[in-house]
Amino acid sequence: MATSLAQAIAGARRELAAAGVASPDADAALLAAHALGLSRGETEAKAILGAPEPAGYRELVARRVRREPLQHITGRAPFRQLDLAVGPGVFVPRPETELLVQLALDHARQWREHGEVHPAVVDLGSGSGAIALAVATEDPACRVTAVEREPEALRWTRQNLAGSRVRLLECDYRDVTVEGSGRFCVVVTNPPYVPVGEVPGDPEVRDYDPPTALYGGDESGMLFPAAAMDTALRLLRPGGSFVMEHAESQVETVADALSRRGFVDVQCHRDLTDRPRATTAFLPGERD
Ligand SMILES: C[S@@+](CC[C@H](N)C(=O)[O-])C[C@H]1O[C@@H](n2cnc3c(N)ncnc32)[C@H](O)[C@@H]1O
Repeated sequence: MATSLAQAIAGARRELAAAGVASPDADAALLAAHALGLSRGETEAKAILGAPEPAGYRELVARRVRREPLQHITGRAPFRQLDLAVGPGVFVPRPETELLVQLALDHARQWREHGEVHPAVVDLGSGSGAIALAVATEDPACRVTAVEREPEALRWTRQNLAGSRVRLLECDYRDVTVEGSGRFCVVVTNPPYVPVGEVPGDPEVRDYDPPTALYGGDESGMLFPAAAMDTALRLLRPGGSFVMEHAESQVETVADALSRRGFVDVQCHRDLTDRPRATTAFLPGERD
């Protein structure tokens, strides 16, 4: 007898759980939705109505059992209001990074309330373009620049930013200087910050996220985050803000590094799961 959609999803859920996938229920349903070209809600409704297993579903589940990221299999990553194209060569945007976008938007709004019509925002290490595109989409008054260096990642940055108002600089964020110097209201970044030698345990991260997106350049993981702070010092106007994601273990190191560079009002922020994953700081100046 042919397998029903509901039976196929239940079987996939068991296989995914046994393979150590963190969210087997969601992944089983989302892979079925992908196979059918429907939303998750529509797929679940079809399952209740007794639809058959869709063609190709088993192959999709087998890829996920081998711990290929869900987003690489579907080719899409939801992020705030966006549905981004992702795949091999680019960092898959994470839910905790949505907090960075909110902080950058809040700071941009404060600038607008102080009379800056088009606050300039720059995203260092843009990857899929998630942060830059989310800021530009949610606050169209912002002038947003994205900076990305890695050729493999840039294929995706270009694709996601095509047709948007985000300006893309294809270069090392340590080299962004002259034309942008002292002009930006907000520098936002999710830099590579994993300490070298601390290889992530999840195969989805370890085997699929590009090492250039993960590792922070030394045993503390702080080389690239510190370089982003130095770039921010050059790019920010007085009173401008720096918004950065980091590991939970880096809260104090990040705060020290910012204070040593002359940033003020250094504050750590917790994500939706209550983990301290972002820090904001300001250049002294006209915002005081
Ligand atoms: C952790 S990923 C973040 C990607 C994206 N902003 C996000 O939050 O999903 C870090 C990104 O920074 C880029 N990157 C690393 N070092 C860089 C550098 N020196 N200059 C420009 N981009 C860099 C990597 O290629 C990668 O795309």
